[in-house]
Amino acid sequence: MNSAVTHESTELNLVSADHELSAALLDHIQQLNQGEVLRFWERLSTGDREHLSHQLAQLDWDFVESHATEHAPAEAQLSVDSHVTPPSRSIRWPESTAERHSWFEAAEEGRDFLQSGHIAVVVVAGGMATRLGTSQPKGMFPIGPISGRSLFHLLAEQVLALSQRYEIEIPYLVMTSEATHAATEQWFEQQHWFGLDPKNVFLFQQGTAPAFDSTTGKLLMSTESSLALNPDGHGGLPFAMSRAGLFKELQHRGIETLFYHQVDNPLVHICDPAFIGLHLRHAAEVSVKFVSKQTPDERVGLLVEIDGRTRMIEYSDLPESLGALKDRDGKLQLRAGNTGIHLFQRTFLERIASQPASLPWHTVHKKVPYVDAEGTLIQPESENALKYERFIFDSFSIAKSVLAVETLREVEFAPLKNAEGECSADEVKQAIIAATATRLRSAGVTVTEGTAVEIANVAPDDALTFEAGCPRRIDQPALFHGTRRAAGFPFVRLQVQK
Ligand code: UD1
Repeated sequence: MNSAVTHESTELNLVSADHELSAALLDHIQQLNQGEVLRFWERLSTGDREHLSHQLAQLDWDFVESHATEHAPAEAQLSVDSHVTPPSRSIRWPESTAERHSWFEAAEEGRDFLQSGHIAVVVVAGGMATRLGTSQPKGMFPIGPISGRSLFHLLAEQVLALSQRYEIEIPYLVMTSEATHAATEQWFEQQHWFGLDPKNVFLFQQGTAPAFDSTTGKLLMSTESSLALNPDGHGGLPFAMSRAGLFKELQHRGIETLFYHQVDNPLVHICDPAFIGLHLRHAAEVSVKFVSKQTPDERVGLLVEIDGRTRMIEYSDLPESLGALKDRDGKLQLRAGNTGIHLFQRTFLERIASQPASLPWHTVHKKVPYVDAEGTLIQPESENALKYERFIFDSFSIAKSVLAVETLREVEFAPLKNAEGECSADEVKQAIIAATATRLRSAGVTVTEGTAVEIANVAPDDALTFEAGCPRRIDQPALFHGTRRAAGFPFVRLQVQK
């Protein structure tokens, strides 16, 4: 587009919008030469004008300005000279008797902490499940291998089981986005909050970031009256919590620690007592569960230390040479793969929320549909836009202390990512079945190889007992259901659901 024409039309629109938008807003638009956002103003209905002016008023104009001036990812690029080492405060999965004993004691400390009720759970569920090829929130995806229960169901029922076992109220924070909020809320209502008390469930929306035309730097519009906005990444969490008044709520409830996880991993052990105990023992502000990376190109973030600070290198940013380094045993030298399972001290997240500049923005080139100067919706064939998001793990580098704790993927990591192949629903269901079979076998049940099993209504740390008549040999698909013997009891009785 010819820049003289752009300028003229910008002025025209600014004049027509003059009486309806604040002087400060018009000033921002003009100063940053973004007048095209008002290109269709004259033909918009009153409602549409209100919508657009609200979006513009909400926009972080300092952010728009920094985009215009920096036009590049804000995060430090990893230089080949950087001194990258494995995380130094790291606890491996227990193998020796002494290590197992230490974990056992940590778990006891974790249970005491749980009992005191100072913990909340937060699940990030704002991402769009584009790779799964569905337009529904990922949390609604049916994943129970026998029951067909959703990811949200399997996760929320752990929170329910924990609150019953420890007789505590656990605030359950579900971060959604503009794209997933309404459907998520409806799903929770429809499913009767999965048995949780709605007063303990907080659905709140993460923020958005505008998309820019990658050649002109102009804000893109998704309709004549709407900016093209995308979720601001899970790094939006502390800011969204602050906007929703959640820090005050948590403080009021005496919450000190948050168990954080992603909506895509049904194997997560929510509030794993050993993890909590180790976090407390090491007085960590942040703890991270990692799995051993299997191959250099596995699509997991890598937890490392760079010049003494803990950092996560996202798989897309990992230099090939670094990812492939081997140690003396032939294992990957840097192998702490990010599971997206963390513990955060509340005060740490509050600190991040009060320093927005502490989390850098990452940019990515994407195809973003937009309306052109004539108001026609264009579906670009190649990447046309710069999208911005923040990652929660960028906060690790400013934590006073970060602890890395190993877990095993067969125990706790089977994320649902793709429609087919790796990390597909089929793979995740198989992982649930395998983990359940292991658990049942260690409780004395014989599960014949390849038989589908699933357990409902039980937390990972619960002790399993059996109702009279519950079969101990399983050679056909079986869905077990747990009933707690009494509130506050660690024992759950299983029966096979007919
Ligand atoms: C993510 C991690 C990666 C880790 C892997 C483990 C990032 C950038 N990378 O990869 O280091 O090894 O998971 O499974 O997170 N989400 C939001 N709002 C957003 C974006 C994402 O709530 O704006 C949520 C998603 O709903 C999901 C989680 O964050 O629960 C992870 O996002 P996803 O895009 O699936 O990350 P991956 O690239 O798979």
